[in-house]
Amino acid sequence: MSRPLRRFARRVLERTGLIAPYYRWLERRAARAVGEEAVDDGRPMPPAELVVLVSGPSRVWFSERGRADAAMFQDLAARHGCDLGAGAQVLDFGCGAGRIARWLAPLVIAGGGRFHGSDLNPRLVAWCAANLPGDYAVNGLQPPLALAAQAIDLVYAHSVLTHLAEATATAWLAELARVLRPGGLALLTFHDETFAGRWGPQGLADRLAREPYIVWNNAMEGSNYLSAWTTRARLAELAAPHFEVLEMIPGGAHEPAQAMAVLKARG
Ligand SMILES: C[S@@+](CC[C@H](N)C(=O)[O-])C[C@H]1O[C@@H](n2cnc3c(N)ncnc32)[C@H](O)[C@@H]1O
Repeated sequence: MSRPLRRFARRVLERTGLIAPYYRWLERRAARAVGEEAVDDGRPMPPAELVVLVSGPSRVWFSERGRADAAMFQDLAARHGCDLGAGAQVLDFGCGAGRIARWLAPLVIAGGGRFHGSDLNPRLVAWCAANLPGDYAVNGLQPPLALAAQAIDLVYAHSVLTHLAEATATAWLAELARVLRPGGLALLTFHDETFAGRWGPQGLADRLAREPYIVWNNAMEGSNYLSAWTTRARLAELAAPHFEVLEMIPGGAHEPAQAMAVLKARG
């Protein structure tokens, strides 16, 4: 099928609401393609149908990339004065199947801190709660979280803003600031213009120069079907009412690493 025809078919499925069952069927098919390779990294491994909701069809990638992303968040936190292993209150927002939590939750808890995970998808939350250390809760597409104000020292969210429309992302920035103590850190990945230029749909990086927040496949918000793309400047603008921007790290030009906003909650 040609690209314009595929796009047309997708729009029809979106308008008729059939996109959700179709996309769930694609996810089930992807789960069947997950390799049988056994990964023993010392931690429980989620079933294939949950692995594909948060990463590609590979348990090895889930394990290895999860460990690398956990180390990245730990290093970034340390660079900005937060030792995750020293009694920190940590939130993994959009924790998925615990790809990163499986590495960070034990570290945080061993250091006397508390680890919280929250996600939209009850199946993912149930798996994390049954298999990983930490406290896990379901939240809605829109805020709030089931956490008290100023309860958290550090929140990280890997590839969560990337599935939200601008108004929803804006609402979550305010909510993450609410649960952070003043001076607490938010480490949030997103698809920026650099990432779009190298890894995004054709022409999207050029469009971002004119439209600083683009929603691609505008249906099933919060799922991987919808992808959101924004410039670093626009994300800084959206965060500004609640956060000081400490760093805006561009997305990977050489490997598909998302951009990262390092934000400090205002007092
Ligand atoms: C691509 S997955 C990434 C999961 C995990 N952060 C990781 O890196 O493995 C996106 C996750 O964001 C979750 N999500 C999307 N919208 C959300 C929202 N409004 N609140 C909480 N979680 C959300 C999805 O359910 C999914 O688990």
